[in-house]
Amino acid sequence: MDTIGYDEKDTTLRETPVAGPVDSPLALSHPPEPCAVVLFGVTGDLASRKLIPALYDLACHDVLPLGFSLVGYGRKALTGQEMRVLSRDAIDGFFGTGTAETRTCHDMLGTVSYVQGEFDDPEGYRRLSDTLDQLDASKHTGGNRIFYLATPPSLFPVIIRRLGEAGLHQGGPAGTPDEHGENRGWVRVVIEKPFGSDLDSARALDAVVREAFDERQVYRIDHYLAKETVQNILVFRFANGIFEPIWNRRYIDHVQITAAETLGVEHRGAYYEEAGALRDMIQNHLLQLLTLTAMEPPVAFSADAVRDEKAKVLDAVRPIPVERVEQFAVRGQYVQGTVDGAVVPGYRQEDRVAPDSTTETFAAIKFLIDNWRWQGVPFYVRTGKRLPRHTTEIAIQFKRPPYLLFKDTDVPSGRVPPNNLVIRVQPEEGIAMNIEAKIPGPAIRLQPVAMNFSYGSALEELPFTAYETLLLDCMVGDQTLFNRDDQVEEAWRVVSPILEAWRNAPQKGLTVYESGTWGPEAADTLVANDGHTWRRP
Ligand code: BG6
Repeated sequence: MDTIGYDEKDTTLRETPVAGPVDSPLALSHPPEPCAVVLFGVTGDLASRKLIPALYDLACHDVLPLGFSLVGYGRKALTGQEMRVLSRDAIDGFFGTGTAETRTCHDMLGTVSYVQGEFDDPEGYRRLSDTLDQLDASKHTGGNRIFYLATPPSLFPVIIRRLGEAGLHQGGPAGTPDEHGENRGWVRVVIEKPFGSDLDSARALDAVVREAFDERQVYRIDHYLAKETVQNILVFRFANGIFEPIWNRRYIDHVQITAAETLGVEHRGAYYEEAGALRDMIQNHLLQLLTLTAMEPPVAFSADAVRDEKAKVLDAVRPIPVERVEQFAVRGQYVQGTVDGAVVPGYRQEDRVAPDSTTETFAAIKFLIDNWRWQGVPFYVRTGKRLPRHTTEIAIQFKRPPYLLFKDTDVPSGRVPPNNLVIRVQPEEGIAMNIEAKIPGPAIRLQPVAMNFSYGSALEELPFTAYETLLLDCMVGDQTLFNRDDQVEEAWRVVSPILEAWRNAPQKGLTVYESGTWGPEAADTLVANDGHTWRRP
């Protein structure tokens, strides 16, 4: 077997902390406290592609807490040594061969251990509890635990129940007891998406969570919220005085939110068949972008104040009547076509996809928000796989000037195009304001130009990936970037009528689009009915 410099019996981890005190530009106002991170689903895709590399990179940035331990929990009979090899391969796979030779990686691997157990076997959780107690003593993890559920969603309820039954909803003994004889570390549970598959299942899962954990302990993931550009939406809106006065129905005509991917469903056919674009992207990521764009200023930049305002937006989204879903929602499925110069197969030809599948790989929805700020302003959202470009953006389209002063100008359409402000979430992260300018010369001729802010040139490199940000926030106990129970349930309420209509008539309105195009024609009709056209990012 591959070895990485640890004695097979040496599952004792380092005595010394992973990271020293922080004195870098990334210094945190609240450095994370010592803790153990328990990964359920440690042999899965998410753990190896995102989570283990993210923890390693946090160690490289010197921001992992003093006293840290990574514990894998899973069904497979792995030794501690094998778990370290798995972690090392994940780090090498992400950062390139040879990374494992670095001192930081060596230190990081020294914190890694493994507990084998079935997900529904109480005995496994007792072993996990014992291991965590031992790590409190040997690794100084302070009785603090993060349980990260990176398993298939069907396992979430059983893991949460068993954690509660094993008493793992409360932390281990920590330091000197207080006057009540109590002094325990904290416990946080991180739950990956999808959180439920509809409103009923999300409510049922919340009920299970509430039996074992307090809402303050629960961190529901939406990795879009941790993207720097997404966090910047609030700074852009509320740290600059000039936008808020025009951020409303008087000046804004409509909003377009696009998340386009060139990839197909890859190896995730089985999952995607159950999900589809509406559940996979719109119920979570795109509705989050919508709430950040539309929310009122919070009274403070605190988790609850921000989440209160976001929840109010979802609450104000006008319910779409099931019998009128076709007027508000469009779906499509990709067929063979050309993306990035290569011929790609259609969705029904993908691995683990039914040859007669009716799952949508593209969805476009028109939402209306019933409040004073947004009355009458459509928010169009669309997402799709196998589109021509990989891009996520929020485009705020302003109203046209009320009167065209430059009547003799040769504006191609005969009308001056409206200004728009485009927040480029990814790639080429930045913000562009598109305005009309005069083309130099004796005649008055207009041309749209962009005032462009680009992260790449204006600011330092983005320090953390989304998962690093989320892990760090969880360690410091900041829930701002995580979804609260009411938000998740409201988001399911918003998409429920569409899910219901599409479930009741799986073929109705399902059109196909060629891979490498911008989705079905019906999506263009959806906005054209309101006199609009989609941007071509
Ligand atoms: C995930 C979806 O949540 O987000 C995927 O399940 C999608 O289908 C991915 O590809 C997109 O994330 P990103 O960060 O690449 O835009």
